[in-house]
Amino acid sequence: MKNKIALTGIKPTGTPHIGNYFGAIKPAIELTKEFDARYFIADYHALNSIKDPQQINEMTYEVAATWLACGLDPNKALVYRQSQVPQTFDLSTILLAFTSKGLMNRAHAYKAMVQNNSELKRDLDDGVNMGLFTYPVLMAADILLFDSDVVPVGKDQAQHLEMTIDIAQSVNHIYKSNVLTIPKPLIRESTQTVIGLDGRKMSKSYNNTIPLFLPTKKLRRLIMKVVTNSQTIEEVKDPDKCNVFALYKLFATEVQQNELREMYLKGGMGWGHAKQELFEVMEEMVSPMRENYNELMDNKDFIDKLLDEGSEKAREIASEKIKFVKNILGFK
Ligand code: ADP
Ligand code: TRP
Repeated sequence: MKNKIALTGIKPTGTPHIGNYFGAIKPAIELTKEFDARYFIADYHALNSIKDPQQINEMTYEVAATWLACGLDPNKALVYRQSQVPQTFDLSTILLAFTSKGLMNRAHAYKAMVQNNSELKRDLDDGVNMGLFTYPVLMAADILLFDSDVVPVGKDQAQHLEMTIDIAQSVNHIYKSNVLTIPKPLIRESTQTVIGLDGRKMSKSYNNTIPLFLPTKKLRRLIMKVVTNSQTIEEVKDPDKCNVFALYKLFATEVQQNELREMYLKGGMGWGHAKQELFEVMEEMVSPMRENYNELMDNKDFIDKLLDEGSEKAREIASEKIKFVKNILGFK
């Protein structure tokens, strides 16, 4: 029996951090055991906000190298660049004709920009490009082109998935057949939110991230910046109300967690000590992956080859689908 297809896109817009690792990368790699995975770099999506060619190029390598270093096996998942699968843009143009403008008006990212402009008393369309406005259509094309069964995404993408389903259903309805496979969102509700240096959700937008593959010394220096309270060394501390401990739990074994917990509850432990413990467990887990990552980043030809090969396979699958769809729509 054919495996079901899991597909997701990763925008190359920032250096991956430990929130991305626990929230997105690790669970997506788990899924490759069960599904035919297609994980691509959504570089045309990034173009809406990044107009620096070097940055897009570098981020693409960083994202690809991160996923591979974290254990993504390219034999188990098709890894490719969105920009190298032009059938995506065929389908995207087709889907535009089935998407009401009203649906796009309701998209969160667009609405947030309009509202911000309104608050600042600027022209409502200020800074809104058509790529941003039609973003959900391009995303629908990414998904529908590959007959995706499940799409693992974070909560912030739930609305985009609903729109994809909406658009696909309207195509199927008009042509009275299953032209497009209706995907199921796999929303990562249960994964806990990883907190950042300041205790808020770790996010590039809050500037509070711990990048996954920071060099050892820099990593240690950054961990020393995790925000704690002003309790003295002698005082008894509450591990369950502590940013350092919350991060520690992600990396430490049960036994290690219990040991550190006891030190908190006993008193006589300073924050510097807890942070050093955090640094050590994190370093132990990331250092083999970091080595791998650095090797990959020093070997960009290898990454290019892998993405080129993945893109070629993706184009083969995609061109079959586009032929099928065009035929139904009345095109040669
Ligand atoms: P950022 O908020 O840093 O811009 P992205 O939106 O690029 O991160 O994140 C990509 C995915 O990584 C999200 O959909 C989510 O699943 C996961 N993710 C990001 N930050 C966290 C976090 N702090 N905790 C858990 N998962 C996260
Ligand atoms: N929009 C997604 C994000 O911002 C990235 C993305 C693009 C995507 N195309 C996709 C995710 C298709 C899942 C499926 O994170």
